[in-house]
Parts: sequence; structure tokens; C-alpha cells
Amino acid sequence: MSEQKYSIVLRDCRLLGAGDRETVDIAIEDDTIAAVSPRISGLGDREIDIKGKLVCPPFVESHIHLDSALTAGEPRWNQSGTLFEGIQIWGQRKQGLTLNDVKKRAIETLRLQASQGILFVRSHADVSEPTLTALQGLLEVREEVKDWMTLQVVAFPQDGIYGSPGNDKLLDKSLDMGADAVGGIPHYELTREDGVKSVHRIFELAEKYNKLIDIHCDEIDDEQSRFLEVVAACAIRSGAGSRVTASHTTAFGSYNNAYAFKLMGILQKSGINFIANPLINITLQGRADSYPKRRGVTRVKELWQHGLNVSLGHDCVQDPWYSLGTGNMLDVAHMAVHVCQMTGMAEIAACFNMVTVNGAKTLYLGDDNYGIDAGKPANLIVLDAEDCYDAIRRNMSCKPFLARVSLIKKFRNCIQ
Ligand code: FE2
Repeated sequence: MSEQKYSIVLRDCRLLGAGDRETVDIAIEDDTIAAVSPRISGLGDREIDIKGKLVCPPFVESHIHLDSALTAGEPRWNQSGTLFEGIQIWGQRKQGLTLNDVKKRAIETLRLQASQGILFVRSHADVSEPTLTALQGLLEVREEVKDWMTLQVVAFPQDGIYGSPGNDKLLDKSLDMGADAVGGIPHYELTREDGVKSVHRIFELAEKYNKLIDIHCDEIDDEQSRFLEVVAACAIRSGAGSRVTASHTTAFGSYNNAYAFKLMGILQKSGINFIANPLINITLQGRADSYPKRRGVTRVKELWQHGLNVSLGHDCVQDPWYSLGTGNMLDVAHMAVHVCQMTGMAEIAACFNMVTVNGAKTLYLGDDNYGIDAGKPANLIVLDAEDCYDAIRRNMSCKPFLARVSLIKKFRNCIQ
């Protein structure tokens, strides 16, 4: 009997959660994982010895603003370092947006991300301007990069749905144009009532257009900012559950424990996803505090302990809110380990999951489209690390050296 042949066989791969000595071989046929087994007897046209290094599904960037990426200092620097000065500066910068400007910076950022093993990105697009240039640009980019990057675009009303006349219609139009998800910013609406109304409107629009939901929710140190409970209640009543995401939720870090414990039960019932952005929120929040100074990050550890799906994002790469940023998801996980005090081994592994498998859940990619199992697309990365602890510990030096193996030629053409 002739031996089974594959396009590629990766030998001696360590998967996430594997023990010290357990490694597997991964066979790939065309664009699909054909087999995962401790020892694959068939041969690949290409045989690659991974030498026991960590092989995992690609990183997932679940929260970024590509439309503002790479604009730090334009037209001026954010001197206070606050969210609200950032919104003011962006309000000036976005007046000069052109399609070419948005697309050029977005593609440059996506290349930076792809070169570091990210193959799935969810980006918000500011849809508060009548021209909808940011959205149009990102929708075109979504199409242009689809061979090497899966990009989701959230229609994000940066200035609020009810803050200016016409914003509601712009949001509706954005979904009609093809945005993948509905966004919002209830804590930035003019009143508490407008904030609640905006959450209801977001769910209504999501139902009308059959879209996912991802809301910038309670990104403020105000312990009275409580739109998360409204989001959770709407998710419970509509049954939207895991199609809904609450991003940031930094006020959750300031709630009193009596309220936080009550809220946690409601959140569990809702089944919504959470995205924390530790790099940016450790710098943006707490700016009005003297001492003690708050960390400004949501209760990541507690949400994880209560079984809720939490993923992590950069939020910003060199823009009015955050002048730093590398696009490397290990930077984000590294910061989460510190800020959220998740230094136990299981906690570090959880932080790694938050930039991989949990992100895939948040993006609603579907079980068939993500992960290292036979029958799934051959999207994987190899890290020059022993395991996820080693990968996070050495975050600056640990780069993926192989990505989307079956498309490696095309992929290299795209990112070089
Ligand atoms: Fe954001």
C-alpha cells in the first residue's frame, strides 16, 4: 500500500496546553489541516521540523481603530493623556480624512499585524462624519486584504448616536453599506437617558440588519457609569448573547463590590463577550485620580473566573489616544498579566487564550474556522517559544516564523 502524501507535514509541534514531552505532527493538504496526531506516517511534499516549539492558531486582534492608526501628533499631541482630549484631537484630524489616507494607514497597520502572526482583526470605523470616509475606506480594505487577513468592521458612532442630529441615520446607513457589527458609546451620550436609549437602538439596528454588536461601554472612571447592565439586559431579552460584546468596561473596576457581585450574575446569564484593552486603559484611565490611583482596567480576572469570554485588544496603535503600540498581541497579553495581576500559571495561560481562542469566539468566527484540528483551515503560527508562558515572558523577542502555512508564498508577498 502506498504511503499517504500531504502538501506539508509539520513535525514535533507543541500545542497549547500540551505537557512537557507531548508533541504532535500536523499534516496539511491544500488549505486544510488533514491530520493532527502524535506520529503521522505519511510524508509531506514539504517536511518541516518544528523542534518542539509552540504551534497555535493565529493571534486575534479583537479591538482596534484602524481609521485613526498611525496619526499620533496630528495635528497635535495629546498633552493630558485623557480619552476626552483624544476625542477632541481626532475630531480635528478626521476633518482631513480621505479614502487614500485611511486605506494607506490601515493596510500599513494590518501588514504590521500580519507580520506578527495576527490573521483576524476587528476594527472600529468612526461613522460620525457625514462623508463616512473612514467606513468606506475600511470596507474597501476588508475586500483588498481578504486573501491574507480577515477583517471585521464595526460601525462606531464616536460622537454618540444622539450627540449630533443625523448620527442615528449615519449609523443605519453604515450597516446598509456592509459594516459587520453595530457599535456605540453610551457613556459619551449627552445624558444617562440618551445612553440607555442608544443601547436599545443598537440592538434594534443589529436585529434589522442581522449584525453583531460591539459597544464601547463605560470607558470611564465614573463608578456611576452603568450601561453594562443595560447591554446585558438587552442581550438576555433579545437572546443575542454571544453575538454581543462589551468593550473596555473600565468603570467595572470602580464599582463597589456589592453591585459588582450582583452584576456578575447578570453577565453570566447574558453570555456576552468582553474585550479589555490593558495597554491603553492603564494609560488613559485614572488621570483625574491623585493617590491611590486606579488601574483603570475592567475586572478581567474575575470575569474569566466566572466563565465569561474575555479577549484582549490593542485598541490603538500610534493615534491621539495612545502614541505607542507595536501590533504585537504578546505585548497586550504581557500587560494584561501585570495590570490584572494574573501571574499564576493558569492565569498566564488564560491571558494567552485571550489573544487567540477567546478572540476567535468574540469575533464569532465559528468553530469550523479557527483552531488546530483536522478539517479546519490551515491557519496556524509557530512561535519560537517552549509554551505560552515562555511566549508571554519573552514577548519582545518572540516572533512567529511561519504563518498560514498553506498560503505562505502569497502571505509573504502581502506583508513584504
Ligand atoms: Fe476602542
